[in-house]
Amino acid sequence: MATTTEQLAAYQNAGGEFEPNHQSFDTLALHAGSIADPTTGALLTPIYQTTTYRQEAVGKDKGFTYSRSANPTVSALERRLAALEGVEHCTCYGTGLAATTVLCLALLRSGDHVVASEAVYGGTVRLLQQVLAPFGVTSEFVDTSDETALKKALSNRKTKFVFIETPANPTLKLTDIELAAQIARQAGALLIVDNTLLTPALQRPFDLGADVVLHSTTKFIEGHNATVGGALLARDQELHERFSFIRNAIGAIQSPFPAWLTIQGVKTVGLRMAHHSENALRVARFLERHPLVTRLSYPGLESFPQFALARKQQSSGGALISFEISGGVAAGIRLMNSVRLCALAENLGSAETLITHPASMTHADVPIAQRQAAGITDGLVRLSVGLEDPADLIRDLSQAFAAAEEVAQ
Ligand SMILES: Cc1ncc(COP(=O)(O)O)c(C=O)c1O
Repeated sequence: MATTTEQLAAYQNAGGEFEPNHQSFDTLALHAGSIADPTTGALLTPIYQTTTYRQEAVGKDKGFTYSRSANPTVSALERRLAALEGVEHCTCYGTGLAATTVLCLALLRSGDHVVASEAVYGGTVRLLQQVLAPFGVTSEFVDTSDETALKKALSNRKTKFVFIETPANPTLKLTDIELAAQIARQAGALLIVDNTLLTPALQRPFDLGADVVLHSTTKFIEGHNATVGGALLARDQELHERFSFIRNAIGAIQSPFPAWLTIQGVKTVGLRMAHHSENALRVARFLERHPLVTRLSYPGLESFPQFALARKQQSSGGALISFEISGGVAAGIRLMNSVRLCALAENLGSAETLITHPASMTHADVPIAQRQAAGITDGLVRLSVGLEDPADLIRDLSQAFAAAEEVAQ
């Protein structure tokens, strides 16, 4: 199987001018790792919709042998994402959870232990607790923003890795990546950062000591609600080889067409993330003043309890806001059912604004006690602020709040 390095060398031999270390983020987002088609000159990497590859002779191939192992369109996406996260290696998967599954299968054996943030994507919790636990993997969900709690969780067990999501979905609580990396290293564990909510445009986990970065590319990386996909990025060659091996062994690779769509989407990730953040700040300021809002979390607001940490490790607040409204569950349901421009939907990270009820949607499989301990209350509403004109979003939310007020208890 061709490695990223070999593919880059092939690109450079073909006259490409890709210089990852000398270009800025937005330039890399447009160009990194792309190879103009040698036969037609087509600027965009084609969709190599092929299962197999003609070999010149036995044992002599061009780096691709079968599309479960590697595919040129998927490899082009991998080179792009690796350049954006600032590391050598990337493998892409059919979904974000397929990436998490490969991570776990590559790193864990029966008897191993995982420490994870208490508020992480519900599917990550389900995978660890309902799929891997019967194979003898134990997992512990702790407040990874609390240094003492994190150290305690790592003190008496053989923990293979610490898995953090920062900001955490959906509470938006932050974990100090640099500190978590130090604590994990001292305990002989790896630090895995799910960077889905901010992307490398707003947060650079490898610069802060992360060993592996995970993405659901379904979200901001692709950004247009058009695909599902995942990625694992690593600096270390051996880790990367383990991920590639497991991906091939279980058949979890991304398909060429969604990979191609993701390459198109990621070209604008820097522009989109900046605009998502500006819009979200406008909407958060509106929510901050609204009398029905009782609790509000947005890392870009000065009132956010971890605002100083947000400024240290994120370059802006991101698109996600979570809030609770007064008036009980009935008011919450009325609010969610009354939006017209915002779409009531699972997912986050798209150009369109999405509104979600985590307790009944994305985190429904997380046991109630665990959900509540993590601050995912029944009244919590999550907004993934899109790229619409924020004045239109605020108008839509205002009329939905007015409807909610009618039934507020
Ligand atoms: C932060 C985070 N990580 C991982 C995933 C899983 O990704 P996918 O839905 O692409 O499998 C999600 C999905 O919502 C997510 O929000």
